[in-house]
Amino acid sequence: MKGVITAGGLGTRLLPMTRVTNKHLLPVYDRPMIFYPLEALVQAGIEDIMIITGGNHAGDFLPLLGDGSEFGLKQLRYTYQRREGGIAEALSLTRDFVGEDKVVVMLGDNILEKSIVPYVEKFRHQPHGARILLKEVEHPEFYGVPTLDETGRIIQITEKPSSPPTRYAVIGVYMYDHRVFDIISRLTPSGRGELEITDVNNAYLEEGLLDYDILEGWWADCGETRQSLHEAGCLVARTGANNRE
Ligand code: DAU
Repeated sequence: MKGVITAGGLGTRLLPMTRVTNKHLLPVYDRPMIFYPLEALVQAGIEDIMIITGGNHAGDFLPLLGDGSEFGLKQLRYTYQRREGGIAEALSLTRDFVGEDKVVVMLGDNILEKSIVPYVEKFRHQPHGARILLKEVEHPEFYGVPTLDETGRIIQITEKPSSPPTRYAVIGVYMYDHRVFDIISRLTPSGRGELEITDVNNAYLEEGLLDYDILEGWWADCGETRQSLHEAGCLVARTGANNRE
C-alpha cells in the first residue's frame, strides 16, 4: 500500500506566514503541520510515501523531511503540482508511483486525535473500491457532505452544500484502489475550476464500491483560517495527535 499527502497550494488565507514558507510547514503546537499526516501514514504501516507540493516554497520540504528515514520510511518522494487544480488533479500526479497498489491519501492540513490504523486495516482486507471517513461537525457546509438513506448507506456526496443534508463531513483521509486514476482521467473541472475529490468518491459510489467508517476522536482541518490553525494547536496541546501524547 502506498501513501500520498497533498501539500500544494499557496496558502493565501494564512498570509503573511505563508509569504516565506509552505502552509504545511507552519507549526501546529510543537511540530510542523506535515508531520501529523506523515506520522499517521507511517503508523498505519505505509513505508512508501509521496508528497505533492506546489507554490513558491516547495524546496522547504527537503531540509525538513529529507529522505524520510527519520520517520522510518523506505523512501519519501516528492512531486510538484503547477497550479491549484484540485485534490484529484494533485492525486493524478502520483499515478506512476502508486502503480497497481492501493493508496491512502491524506490532506496535508488534516490532523486526527486517534490513529488511522483500524480504518486502514479494514481497507487492506477490502478486495477493491474505496473507503472514506465521516465525522459529525458543527458546520458541514464547509466540507464534502454525504446524504444517507434510512439504512445508513451513502446515496451521494455534495461538496460544500448550502443546505447540508446531514451533519457529517467527509474528512481528508481517502483510501482507493489503483482504478482511482482512470476515474480521475474522466473528471471535468467543477465550478471552482478544480478536479474534485468528491467527484471521485461519487464515481465509486455509483459503482457500489464506496465504504465508510465514522471517525473516532477529534478531527481538525487546520489550514482553513488563522483560527482553525490556532484551534488545532490547542487540541494537540490538550490530547496529543495520532494517539500520541
Ligand atoms: O478537509 C476536508 C475537506 O477537504 C473535504 O471535506 C472536502 O470534500 C474536500 O474538497 C477538501 O476541501 P477544501 O476545499 O477544504 O480543500 P483545500 O483546498 O483546503 O485542500 C486540502 C489540502 O489539499 C490542502 O492541504 C492543500 C492541498 N491541495 C489542495 C488543492 C486544491 C493541493 O495539494 N492541491 C490542490 O490543487
